[in-house]
Amino acid sequence: MCMQKIIAANFKTNHTRASALEYLSGLESFLKDRGGDSKIWVFPPLNALVNNHYSTFQIGTQNAYPIVNGAMTGEVGLEALREFHIQSILLGHSERREHLGECPTLIAKKFYFFAKENFSIFHCIGENLEVRERGEEAVFLFLESQLSEIPLDYPHLIVAYEPIWAIGTGVSATLESIERVHRFLRSKLPNTPLLYGGSVKADNVASILNTPCVDGVLVGSASWKLQDFCTLLENTESTK
Ligand code: PGA
Repeated sequence: MCMQKIIAANFKTNHTRASALEYLSGLESFLKDRGGDSKIWVFPPLNALVNNHYSTFQIGTQNAYPIVNGAMTGEVGLEALREFHIQSILLGHSERREHLGECPTLIAKKFYFFAKENFSIFHCIGENLEVRERGEEAVFLFLESQLSEIPLDYPHLIVAYEPIWAIGTGVSATLESIERVHRFLRSKLPNTPLLYGGSVKADNVASILNTPCVDGVLVGSASWKLQDFCTLLENTESTK
């Protein structure tokens, strides 16, 4: 399937509002100078949410509660996102599933709420090492169960496959393994952009993007410094 490449930057718990603003204006200038054929998203942390008013990329949120406003201490609702014209959200990230106890029911509740608002939803799935060691069949079954949390025909769905054992470890999955998993995902999601995430860096991004059935990447640590992210973006240019 031929679609525009997607490159998404997940800042996780990094950057202040001041440093995010400086980064984003640097990114805007870089992209204006270079042009390019990718669709780019940046997901700053909630404390550094900024107006989604850039011309070369979109700002999304790493999390939000499925509520317009109300009594959910410590959470951010739709009204707050609207102030910044945010239209994209990351859901199901393994750090939220594993460390913050986010369960499939809550993820689905968030999905349906933000789908009603026509958000672009980056739904993250991925197995841990224990599942991976049980073999490929177990991995596919596990991913299938994570996909069953959401309606797969949602038109603004983007699925990010992020094996947990590859996140933040500096060791990405092999290209063969990425291809096999993405071919499996493509059989379930013929028209949905499929991203790979997990230790994507400037030096492996081109080969990952050239892997069949990979439509883009979700980048964590290699996006936190503007210079690193710009180098990574430069290296995406010769890819399919
Ligand atoms: P990483 O993180 O690039 O640092 O491995 C990816 C992610 O968690 O989205």
